[in-house]
Amino acid sequence: MKGVILAAGKGTRLYPVTRVIPKPLLPIANRMTLEYAFDQLKGCGISEVCIVVGENEAQIKEALGGGGAFGLKLAYVRQTEPKGLAHAVGFAKDFVAGDDFVLYLGDAIYDQSLKPHVDRFREARCANLNLVKPVDDPRRFGVANVEGERIVKLVEKPAEPESNLAMAGMYVFGPQIWDVLPGLQPSLRGEYEITDAIQTLIDRGETVLAGVYEGQWFDTGTLDSFLETTRFLTQGACLVGEGATVNGPMGDAVVIGPGAVVNVSGGIEDSVVLPGARVEIGGSLRHAVVGGDCKRATSVENSVIYGDLNE
Ligand code: G1P
Repeated sequence: MKGVILAAGKGTRLYPVTRVIPKPLLPIANRMTLEYAFDQLKGCGISEVCIVVGENEAQIKEALGGGGAFGLKLAYVRQTEPKGLAHAVGFAKDFVAGDDFVLYLGDAIYDQSLKPHVDRFREARCANLNLVKPVDDPRRFGVANVEGERIVKLVEKPAEPESNLAMAGMYVFGPQIWDVLPGLQPSLRGEYEITDAIQTLIDRGETVLAGVYEGQWFDTGTLDSFLETTRFLTQGACLVGEGATVNGPMGDAVVIGPGAVVNVSGGIEDSVVLPGARVEIGGSLRHAVVGGDCKRATSVENSVIYGDLNE
């Protein structure tokens, strides 16, 4: 079993921070986002992982190298254009070389081990198993109709979902997936959808199972979800990285990156200061992610800031 992590996205919803730090490397609770993915894959007994990168290729390779520091053997492939998840996974075909593999969306974080689902895939000897999770608003996800253990229908971002089971960012595939990728057509949003690839497996009569995930699942793509994940991982406490200094009252759920220097007279709450940042704020800092050299005379709220960069 191998691992493939999709990490080519630009992270536009966290601009301008992700213009400087690629989203897969962005620290969450002072660990790189991808380290959470590495832990999960290792927990599933996987040691060889391919990361599908995009424009962020050089920075990601430089930061992660051959993977030895993380107890993994890492390989990299580059998705040439952002054309969807099924397009991205195609670049990992040579790496996977006919094995089974776990496909992991790089910005997903789970608080429970995924191993039971990988084990179940192995025992069932099926073509594919997908993590699904009941959610309140399934319309922004791929949505699965499940009968017994099997997924019988999948729709990407349906306006009127037929179930509340969202595709939850982790998929286990056998080699059958490679047969269906070449025949895919782009969806209405212009992307080659992994949900369409899986639907084709279903249509061909392959066994496609649902693994219902009972734990917490976060994606870290927006300011709100990034801070929610941070709050969960820190359990609401303050985390101050090595060599950082903070002047000003500290409230709940604050993460200060290593080496950062922070002066915030009105106090900090529910915010992340990135490693090495220089922050001077003449008010308070709330619900924000701040990096670089950041001086503001008044309070900062609901913002993603990197020095003087604009979005
Ligand atoms: C993608 C998948 C979707 C899945 C979601 C999970 O959506 O296409 O099926 O439910 O990830 O995060 P995207 O984030 O590309 O909109």
